[in-house]
Amino acid sequence: MANVRTAAYPPRYSRAARILHWLTVVLVLTTIPAGLIMVEEGLSRPVQDTLYLYHKNIGPVILLLVVLRLVVRVVSPPPPHPESLPRVQALVASVVHWLLYATLVALVVSGMVRVQAGGFPMEIWDPLIGGLLDRDKDLAEAASEFHEIAKSVLIVLILMHAGAAAMHGLVKRDGIFSRMWPPV
Ligand code: HEM
Ligand code: HEM
Repeated sequence: MANVRTAAYPPRYSRAARILHWLTVVLVLTTIPAGLIMVEEGLSRPVQDTLYLYHKNIGPVILLLVVLRLVVRVVSPPPPHPESLPRVQALVASVVHWLLYATLVALVVSGMVRVQAGGFPMEIWDPLIGGLLDRDKDLAEAASEFHEIAKSVLIVLILMHAGAAAMHGLVKRDGIFSRMWPPV
């Protein structure tokens, strides 16, 4: 009986899934601009160093959040989609969700390869995952190109995903947005 009274309707993602989702959003939406700005020419050294430091330190945190989210997903699976959501839309949403996870992993891995093969430090992560790769100029360049492409893919996916979420939350108001809201 207690469950009936406290259960959210329409059903939501678990609190852990929501906290982790919105924490990921904050970190990803600050890591992308940090990356885009830090590679610009003409920045002062302290500004550029600060952005690189933030970018490189937060990257692995995003990977940890992805892993945690996948564990939480297994422990408390997402609620079923409402009947009102067309099958095709539910399928597209799922594909975009999995691509978001995959692209984040690809960015963190390629970022780490680019930095280590380039002979640069992993900053606070050095004691844990520093020195995994020897210096390799070609590998560093390939990883850098891959990172740049993956970042563009991620931006397109986020635009699709956030656009759809906003559409559901503001226009359709069909309860899809509330599946991931509030954050806590
Ligand atoms: C450990 C993780 C990461 C490391 C070490 C890392 C490292 C780097 C480095 C060194 C660059 C400079 C570009 C280059 O010379 O190749 C860069 C660029 C960039 N990174 Fe990362 N990155 C990491 C994770 C991420 C993540 C998770 C994202 C997105 C959420 C991201 C988004 C970007 C963006 C947008 C740029 C600018 C690319 C450009 O336009 O040239 N990075 N990253
Ligand atoms: C910034 C990067 C973002 C990433 C990487 C991201 C990632 C994800 C992922 C992977 C899921 C699926 C969770 C799962 O089933 O495992 C999800 C669900 C969701 N996200 Fe995001 N998200 C981002 C931004 C946003 C934004 C800005 C909004 C709101 C405007 C949003 C709203 C939602 C909603 C409402 C769901 C639940 C969708 C459903 O139940 O089908 N997300 N997000």
